[in-house]
Amino acid sequence: MTKDADTQREKTSHRLNPTMAELIELRLSRRGFVGGVMAASTLAASGCASMAKSTTPKSSFQFDEILRGTDETHHVPEGYTADVLIRWGDALFEDSPEFDPLNQTAEKQLRQFGVNNDYIGFIPLDTSDGDEARGILCVNHEWSTTSMLFPGVAENYPDSVTREICEIELASMGGTLVEIVKRDGDWSVVIPSTYNRRITAGYTPMTVTGPAAGHDRLKTSDDPVGKTVAGTLYNCAGGVTPWGTYLMAEENIHGYFSGELPEGHREERNYKRFGVPGDWYPWGRHIDRFNISKEPNEPNRFGWIVEVDPMAPDTKPKKRTALGRCKHEGAESVVAKNGQVVLYSGDDERFEYVYKFVTASKFNPDNRDANMNLLDEGTLYAARFDADGTMEWLPLVYGSGPLTEENEFYSQADVVIEARHAAKLMGATEMDRPEDIEPDPTSGRVWVMLTNNNRRKEDDTNAANPRAENLHGHIIEIIETDGDFTSTKSRWEFLVKCGDPDDPAFGAVWNPMTSENGWFGSPDNCAVDPDGRLWVATDGNNRTGGADGIWAMETDGPLRGTGRAFFRGPEGCEICGPRFTPDSKTLFVSVQHPGDSRENSFENPLTRWPDFNDNMPARSAVLAIQRKDKGKVGS
Ligand code: FEO
Ligand code: CA
Ligand code: CA
Ligand code: CA
Repeated sequence: MTKDADTQREKTSHRLNPTMAELIELRLSRRGFVGGVMAASTLAASGCASMAKSTTPKSSFQFDEILRGTDETHHVPEGYTADVLIRWGDALFEDSPEFDPLNQTAEKQLRQFGVNNDYIGFIPLDTSDGDEARGILCVNHEWSTTSMLFPGVAENYPDSVTREICEIELASMGGTLVEIVKRDGDWSVVIPSTYNRRITAGYTPMTVTGPAAGHDRLKTSDDPVGKTVAGTLYNCAGGVTPWGTYLMAEENIHGYFSGELPEGHREERNYKRFGVPGDWYPWGRHIDRFNISKEPNEPNRFGWIVEVDPMAPDTKPKKRTALGRCKHEGAESVVAKNGQVVLYSGDDERFEYVYKFVTASKFNPDNRDANMNLLDEGTLYAARFDADGTMEWLPLVYGSGPLTEENEFYSQADVVIEARHAAKLMGATEMDRPEDIEPDPTSGRVWVMLTNNNRRKEDDTNAANPRAENLHGHIIEIIETDGDFTSTKSRWEFLVKCGDPDDPAFGAVWNPMTSENGWFGSPDNCAVDPDGRLWVATDGNNRTGGADGIWAMETDGPLRGTGRAFFRGPEGCEICGPRFTPDSKTLFVSVQHPGDSRENSFENPLTRWPDFNDNMPARSAVLAIQRKDKGKVGS
């Protein structure tokens, strides 16, 4: 046996020899599949590899895994295509100017697809005219990677950032709604379309609704009423509601503010916890409202879930304050058995919380208009995960428990503005950066992506976040009692603990049947496909030596806890927004900030994906992934 073969065997045997504790931890047995798994792993451990192989259960995914690795471009399995649907700077309107990266202006950007696409929603449209498929794509543009987007900025950042650049950034972030159609197997953008619309960080007026609307803490010089905000910041993931509206989650909004709060200001506690001012960008030098010395309340007008009606392009987006204010990753929803709507949201920060919101009223499937303000009334909960595998959803309601004047909560407005502090006082569990959370309507389960936490120490681990210096994150499964998404007492378990299962330093836990390519690190966005299967996109898998990508995850049966590598992006990117069409024949994927790293710039990207043209910077883009034989993706 060669040395290489020995090494290979060592690696493989580690994967095939999980400890009993690990197997129990994965709780495979709870699903009644213990026989199959134990049989396979015990046989393998005893050296009967061929017998173990013969019992290898059938995967629910039918595609050949791609290989781990990193290079300048993207990869899909054999038999699949991945076509660029739309890129930063592409046209949305008949009068959209051609993208010219050396001569960009805010005015041009307002007519073009934005930067750093993240969340993708798909609202199906009528196909009675014979098209294969048609819909409105709802895409978030998360943030500005300034030195990658603008020529000549990297060297003297932030002094090199002019007011004009700030204004272009304000036009480039936010969201895009764009009609797309599939003909002869190919997707394309529809221009003109009455649905095409840009929503921006700086210029789109939005109405504030819910408990914090009109509150003193939201009033500014521009808006003395506290009910109208110009724009939406740092739109990360999001959601599409059962009534077909598009939700944009505002995440790292603190980074855009600079300045200093006046001494003794009411917002000291609030902003300290939120990291305001983050000073990531020099906008406050040029634009007063991003300088908290001048406009101390402006940060309270961001950090919300924003609801947009794709069918009514003339209506103002609404900031739904009842869902609380934090660094919302997303807002995926589900209709509970009794008709109430439940939305899940992670607060993406180390040691912050998992939330859900349950509407007071029920979804009306027969009258869309009746649902349009459902998100203004309901109960916001934060999660406490207990060591015995149970959990409790803790209501954040003014006047109950510690949420009173004694702790400077004077109304529900204060509770939602400082949702983090309210959740802390109620005893919610400090998590390892909760990112996307996806409910599965068929099984009553909810998958929670916890991306990583490099600041957790040995003495502050907890049952649901058990690893100190958790570099690669984990996935938790919530089992809502009796499949009732409104329940307040539920159960939880791990799906996987991410990272390399061959490196004991990380304490990763995967199903022992996971392949060399099937494990990953830093889960971020996820999607449940129309067949109820989980797909996970990563942001930070590069720390494991491979590019970020998408893995299909087994959540049931003997293979529960195995991943399967489906897609990987070009170097420097993160992967966001996986979204299946209702027929499962297309998977839309966001490739965000390709070619980016701390050392790289507009002039010197890691890759010039997807154009590979020396005159073009690397450009974020949405891909449409399909099977060459026109079948369902992954089946
Ligand atoms: Fe915007 Fe938490 O990723
Ligand atoms: Ca994300
Ligand atoms: Ca999602
Ligand atoms: Ca992330």
